[in-house]
Amino acid sequence: MFRNTEHGYGLIAITLHWIVAFAFIANYALIFGREWFLAPRSDLGRTLISTHMAIGVSVIVFVALRIIWKLVDRQPSPPKGSRLEHLAASTVHLILYAVMIVIPLTGYLGTGGSARLFFLFDLPPFRETWIFTTIVEGWFGITWESFESVMDFIHKTGGARVVWVLIALHISAALYHQFVRRDNILRRMTNPRTSRFD
Ligand code: HEM
Ligand code: HEM
Repeated sequence: MFRNTEHGYGLIAITLHWIVAFAFIANYALIFGREWFLAPRSDLGRTLISTHMAIGVSVIVFVALRIIWKLVDRQPSPPKGSRLEHLAASTVHLILYAVMIVIPLTGYLGTGGSARLFFLFDLPPFRETWIFTTIVEGWFGITWESFESVMDFIHKTGGARVVWVLIALHISAALYHQFVRRDNILRRMTNPRTSRFD
């Protein structure tokens, strides 16, 4: 029930997948909702940005748990398919793991402001932390302006131009498997008791 089996995902992998998935989708909705429908300096616009930041830093904790769990639990066998399909799926999954780390992390590292972990604890702005002042600036001599511009580029341009395409591809593949191939792929990521797997 809790652990993965040869045929499907267990409750822990499923819960972590959906927490991270909904956090990403919510963060896209918040940031683009603000950009498309609100004046940037409105009160609601500010609330949406701080919610985006709070969800973003909190998801880092779940991503860390997810990676640890992935390393300790067994992995279900892949569905039937050609070698090319297996290669495409595992490549996209690997890139999505990288995205899950890089996008929220660059969001935190690159913004000068503080964010609320789990909407409860204020994290200090990264530029005021010992890691930035002593290591990044002190040891490597990197100024905040150049550090911020690299983090910003990865977070905003990567997030807005590249990452959503990968996520859209991933969702389309899941829906294609479930409703065209009918091979239980979506069901095994929603129901820990999925034992039959074609
Ligand atoms: C699930 C994690 C996250 C996702 C998917 C995400 C996605 C994005 C995207 C796509 C943009 C660019 C929007 C545009 O082109 O206008 C953006 C902007 C931004 N993000 Fe994130 N982000 C995440 C986490 C974070 C975190 C952890 C922080 C900070 C603690 C953060 C702070 C910001 C800020 C300040 C902006 C710029 C808003 C503006 O001035 O227009 N994000 N985010
Ligand atoms: C509505 C949105 C989503 C749907 C319907 C969905 C569906 C699925 C399904 C069905 C699988 C299982 C694939 C298999 O059995 O081989 C899966 C795995 C995976 N998903 Fe999603 N997903 C969604 C959103 C996301 C998002 C937003 C991310 C990351 C940002 C993500 C990252 C992953 C990763 C990395 C795996 C591989 C799991 C592993 O083997 O550890 N998914 N997803």
